[in-house]
Amino acid sequence: MEMLVVSGGHPLSGRVAVSGAKNAALPIMAATLLADGPVTLRNIPQLVDVATLARVLVSLGMKVHGDTSAALHFETVDDSQQTADYELVRRMRASICVLGPLLAKRKRACVSLPGGCNIGHRPIDLHLKGLRALGAEISIENGYVYAAANQLRGADIYLGSAFGSTVTGTCNVMSAAVLAEGTTRIEAAACEPEVIDLGNFLNSLGAHIVGLGTPCLTIEGVESLSGGDYSIVSDRIEAATLMIAASLTGSLIELENVPVHHMTAVLEILGQVGLKISQWGEITKVDGRGERSAVDFVARPYPGIPTDVQAQMMSLMSVTSGKSIITDSVFPDRFMHASELTRMGAQIRREGSTAVVEGIPRLSGAHVMASDLRASAALVLAALAAERETVIRRIYHLDRGYERLESKLNALGAVIRRVEDQPVELPMAPSLAENATRRSHRAA
Ligand code: EPU
Repeated sequence: MEMLVVSGGHPLSGRVAVSGAKNAALPIMAATLLADGPVTLRNIPQLVDVATLARVLVSLGMKVHGDTSAALHFETVDDSQQTADYELVRRMRASICVLGPLLAKRKRACVSLPGGCNIGHRPIDLHLKGLRALGAEISIENGYVYAAANQLRGADIYLGSAFGSTVTGTCNVMSAAVLAEGTTRIEAAACEPEVIDLGNFLNSLGAHIVGLGTPCLTIEGVESLSGGDYSIVSDRIEAATLMIAASLTGSLIELENVPVHHMTAVLEILGQVGLKISQWGEITKVDGRGERSAVDFVARPYPGIPTDVQAQMMSLMSVTSGKSIITDSVFPDRFMHASELTRMGAQIRREGSTAVVEGIPRLSGAHVMASDLRASAALVLAALAAERETVIRRIYHLDRGYERLESKLNALGAVIRRVEDQPVELPMAPSLAENATRRSHRAA
């Protein structure tokens, strides 16, 4: 397995481009199942999750080809396949995004239930509620969701929960409703830019969805969708991650393709921290050279501060003088990174869905483990600002959702090496060693 070795304390400078958004690319790729003709997708990020979903689609009878650096092409060659297998789905929860499109287009869907997740409890009850409301018969057997409907029918659907709405749930129900007979109204729909991007993509193929970006979507069902050519929106979470890197290293950097209009809350809180962010045509200048102030925030559904930048912000607050109170209202248990940051010297106390961070002048390099995608990014960022070297293991999480994060940071002047993790011969406690020697003598 690979690991990252980050040498801290190097200032950043220069310019890099933000890639396409993972969380838009995945449901849009899944929705290509709905199209009657070939679909070309551009600005797809080169990620392990994208490769995994491409494999799921191939297993469902689609031809997927092309080069992610330019464009990927999708075409149905065998529409008799209806099963998304556990072996593939267990690698990535977002595979559940094929459920709605598969059901709507092929009348039957059998999709493995995604399993546990390090960021907390992640049920799909709202996805199933929405599809049932459209007329699907749904059962769960042997770890699979079985869904069937000869003709989905429009309905009024409420998708709210105690945590707000559901992003991939809205994607699934909206994707199914575009081919339903009649009108569907989704109340408490997720307003995330990635849901809007999926809606814009579906509309570009001939769907009739209005209200995108609001909690109330109205979808007039159509008989079929055509093929098309679509470019994925840029990744607001990657942009925020790079901005936080500039702040942590006290640097001035430039970013291309920042979706600033999707980042109002993030830009505001980073402004309160002390970053100066300005737009120069296509270029976003991020100046993190000034003094920093601690901020409190609650991660909320869009347009709030995204839960997907909570971990990176915690790294920043760990080395910002003062006290910061961070709450995650979307995933109240998404705090695995806090224990690893503590191993680097951070002062973090967890109280339920809240973490209280007392900023210290400097973190120290340590051996740490990535537990999920954004936790990995948070550790890389913390390591950039830490003394000496930090070794980050389990970085396969990082590769799932960031396109060459260490290459982009190195292009800006960071010093990060990707190396093979060598197994180390561990010393045994003396008493255990003696017992083992006695046992091996007896055996001889
Ligand atoms: N929830 C339910 N029932 C459901 C679905 C969700 O109670 O049927 C709850 C969840 O437990 C959670 C909240 O609703 O507390 C929000 O979950 P949501 O369904 O919105 O999350 P998701 O669709 O599974 C997407 C992103 C996540 C991102 C969340 C929140 C994709 C592929 N994933 O997940 O991205 O954190 O929305 O914005 O779009 C990441 O990129 O690192 C990541 C985890």
